[in-house]
Amino acid sequence: MPKWLSNAVFYQIYPQSFYDSNGDGIGDINGIKEKLGYIKDLGCNAIWINPCFESPFMDGGYDISDYYKVAARYGTNGDLKSLFEAAHSLGIKVLLDLVPGHTSDKHKWFSESKKPEKNEFSDRYIWTDSVWEAPRQYNFECGITNRDGNYMVNFFSSQPALNYGFNKITHPKWQMSYKSPECKRTVEAIKDVMRFWLDLGCDGFRVDMADSLVKNDDEKTATSEIWRDIRIMLDENYPEAAIISEWCCPQRAITCGFHSDFYLDHEGNGYHTAFRNDIINGEDTCFFSKLGKGDITVLTGELEKDLKQINGLGYVSFITGNHDIKRLSYRYDESELKVAICTILFLPGVPFIYYGDEIGMPYNESLKSKEGGFYRTGSRTPMQWDDSRNAGFSNANKQDLYLPVDDSENNVNVKAQSQYNYSLLNTIKKALTIRNEYNDFSAESEYETLFAQKHRYPYIFRRGDFAVCVNPSVESAKANIDITLKNCVFKIGDVDINGKNINMQGQSMGVFKL
Ligand code: NOJ
Repeated sequence: MPKWLSNAVFYQIYPQSFYDSNGDGIGDINGIKEKLGYIKDLGCNAIWINPCFESPFMDGGYDISDYYKVAARYGTNGDLKSLFEAAHSLGIKVLLDLVPGHTSDKHKWFSESKKPEKNEFSDRYIWTDSVWEAPRQYNFECGITNRDGNYMVNFFSSQPALNYGFNKITHPKWQMSYKSPECKRTVEAIKDVMRFWLDLGCDGFRVDMADSLVKNDDEKTATSEIWRDIRIMLDENYPEAAIISEWCCPQRAITCGFHSDFYLDHEGNGYHTAFRNDIINGEDTCFFSKLGKGDITVLTGELEKDLKQINGLGYVSFITGNHDIKRLSYRYDESELKVAICTILFLPGVPFIYYGDEIGMPYNESLKSKEGGFYRTGSRTPMQWDDSRNAGFSNANKQDLYLPVDDSENNVNVKAQSQYNYSLLNTIKKALTIRNEYNDFSAESEYETLFAQKHRYPYIFRRGDFAVCVNPSVESAKANIDITLKNCVFKIGDVDINGKNINMQGQSMGVFKL
């Protein structure tokens, strides 16, 4: 386990939209470098950068055409190396995005693979043995190459699935065992990619669709073998490198060798019911909504079970948002955001703040899809730094911006919020100062639910020697717990303690020493 991970607080950067250092309208690596001071000042000590590699950008860069090269729009490999160095000098770790499951159909491996003549890359992707063969349970692109076969895709049509083989073989004529030498070569190719960036100075990877490697692998036992093998490589040669999975099944992901696993917004799971439940027929049942109609026990039940199962061998990662989901601000106002985001920062594990969430950047519903974003485009707009032109994101002409930026007079921006003591930004900064000051909030520190009852508020949990009390509802809430709370180190609104009785004003939060 990399030692630094336990105290890490991540800031996720969508590179296109963070800061444009050269005035071409699109964010870049040098732009990230210029803003490292801001990230550190916020209280984060690690960043994850979405894919920044060469790509035709049919899926925002998750369609990689060269794993070894930074996309020209973002700069050069040299710029990225220099970002690693600058980040390290400030004590900031950098995770890149590893996309092991698929490439772009413009990748040179695929250009070779689609040729009718047998070659080194013929089996790098999953092909049927005839263009007339396309079993319906899989996603194939059919009849669009000269090779007599169809190829499987993982996500969009432009993302052919790399061949890690099959666990259960249903069509022996073209499905390979995951143990076959051809499939092992795919694993080695991805290990080479990892080594390349780790050697250049990155500190690990967020791993895209980590569970999707081997097909027909319902129990994920074969996919697990691959990750365990990769983990051995890391433990031997890069023991300080971290891998964090996009999986949303901590028990499986950690057993596979991941150091932490994301809680994603999946219908009905704890994260969803607490933070993001859909509003159905006007009924908002999110626990963190100010309406106070939620049920936190779905989250606490899941969290307790997951922490027990992973048993300290890895962590969970709560997120304020990411590039795939609507920003929390689409449904929460500033007061709700304060309580929701600060809670995320004190919950167990390694938290991730999505760029702009710290100022409540809006989700822009009205945008046309950009580079395969579709509804996700609205969460990928340029960072709003100040009240100058283009909100300080770029010097380019408006029409040349990657996506429109909200630079209206009343926009939310970093500069304005820095000046106001109780802004969302400064509230989050204070929460992070406390989180970073006490080891009790590190990922390896204990979690215990102290008060969580169905359809009741507040929610109270223990982290090490502290209790975190949360009341997102506008109504006041009371609880009685078996522990005496002492001094308060972080507070939103009013929380009154009388022995073991806790009285919380509406929309309040308090972190107390025990
Ligand atoms: C998950 C990524 O987060 C998403 O943005 C992407 O479209 C898919 N994986 C496919 O790589």
